[in-house]
Amino acid sequence: MATAQSTSILPEELEESGREPVVAVQDIHKSFGAHKVLNGINLTVNRGETLAVLGRSGTGKSVLLRLIVGLDKPDSGSIRICGEDIAGLTIDQLGGIRKKMGFLFQHAALYDSLSVADNVAFPLLHHNKALSKSERADRVSQLLLEVGLDGNLDRMPSDISGGMQKRVGLARALALKPEILLLDEPTAGLDPISSREIDELILKLQKERQMASIVVTHDLFSAKIISNRLALLDQGNVLIEGSFEDLERSDIAFVKEFLKQ
Ligand SMILES: Nc1ncnc2c1ncn2[C@@H]1O[C@H](COP(=O)(O)OP(=O)(O)OP(=O)(O)O)[C@@H](O)[C@H]1O
Ligand SMILES: [Mg+2]
Repeated sequence: MATAQSTSILPEELEESGREPVVAVQDIHKSFGAHKVLNGINLTVNRGETLAVLGRSGTGKSVLLRLIVGLDKPDSGSIRICGEDIAGLTIDQLGGIRKKMGFLFQHAALYDSLSVADNVAFPLLHHNKALSKSERADRVSQLLLEVGLDGNLDRMPSDISGGMQKRVGLARALALKPEILLLDEPTAGLDPISSREIDELILKLQKERQMASIVVTHDLFSAKIISNRLALLDQGNVLIEGSFEDLERSDIAFVKEFLKQ
């Protein structure tokens, strides 16, 4: 149970209150030509909860995130974000909803020609035009402090480590104060120590901001630390969903094999 001091909302409390999950993916199908990638995916994420999405390379994890953030359209099924079905909306219609979502791309995807500060300022410049230049600069400094990168404003993406690039990507994803945070492989390509530092940062951000988070990862250790719930994708479907212990208890051969990695 949440204490009186706690600001967290437990998933059971949300269900009891009858409120919709922040993200609700229902029976999503997606093919590229004859290649069926997603074949009836169902997932929900509540506020304050982190769902880890696992699966082999090429199972459609990044495709799923791109559908949720509206960068691509499903062939069928519904994707409800804060109660609104986005599956049929155009990019223009998506505008307001997109601002609720922060997205860290699989390869950090920073703008190479922009400094660290300008990368983080980018969403503010384009989606929060009411901010003055000094307010924007303050917000950027605050965000970089939050991800442990204060003092690095003027550096270029090519001059910082992979771990720092992920932090810049995270700061940029957080710039518009999203209710939903989508992270695609936040620890991929990092050494174990940097990976654990990113895990700690994600946990801290989640504790402070109580977002609905989805983290795609290959890193089982990371998934165990940062998530409340895990979903393992296989052959276009959610093969199993539950706590890490639920997955460990599973008799499904593929789950056992996957956890051995
Ligand atoms: N725009 C596209 N056009 C055609 N095929 C695509 C497109 N995007 C993704 N695919 C295919 O969909 C499948 C799933 O891709 P996706 O990138 O989601 O895999 P993934 O689970 O994220 O893999 P990884 O763990 O390697 O990142 C792959 O076979 C990929 O080639
Ligand atoms: Mg991927």
